[in-house]
Amino acid sequence: KRLAVFCSGTGSNFKALFHAIIERELPAEIVMCLSNRSQCGAIDFAKEYGIETLHLSESQFGSHDDFARAMLSELRDRQIDMILLAGYLRKIPDAVIAAYPEKIVNIHPSLLPQFGGHGMYGMRVHEAVIASGETRSGATVHFVNEEYDKGRIIMQNHVPVLPGDTPKTLAERVLRCEHRLYPAALEKLLDKQP
Ligand code: GRF
Repeated sequence: KRLAVFCSGTGSNFKALFHAIIERELPAEIVMCLSNRSQCGAIDFAKEYGIETLHLSESQFGSHDDFARAMLSELRDRQIDMILLAGYLRKIPDAVIAAYPEKIVNIHPSLLPQFGGHGMYGMRVHEAVIASGETRSGATVHFVNEEYDKGRIIMQNHVPVLPGDTPKTLAERVLRCEHRLYPAALEKLLDKQP
């Protein structure tokens, strides 16, 4: 399967997926790293490993529709089968979601449906979890649909929220959980694909 990874930041999930594909000999290849940023950790990693990078952001286009059309043609030009969002902080245009039904996947750093939705990303998630008094958190891999963090859940893994946890210590624990969860979810998806 030909994968595109969409990133906006460090790219630690991208790195975990890349290494898992090699080490577990998964039937997949990361063909492109797309980012709304012109520079970020994920782009540096992609360049280091010879993966094509593409800077595509709505601000480069006159309209949202032009942006959506450009994203679609870039994906089609590379015959992408599946899109993995990994720390990508922009909405996927509805036209792209429609063209890739149950083929766009995201990882979110909480046990969805709790602590998800528009604006719930990064440290805000962990602050909310701690403030809620929850004793468990975790990560969720889910299909992407037209609403933030609402698509069908593929796999989840949980971690404890410990007394004295700060958003930072919880975020680090959840991120380590993500790096195990995303490759496992990808493996499951690839097993299912015809
Ligand atoms: C992580 O919290 C992840 O859950 C979210 O984006 C954050 C950064 O991910 N999707 P990465 O290190 O850029 O993969």
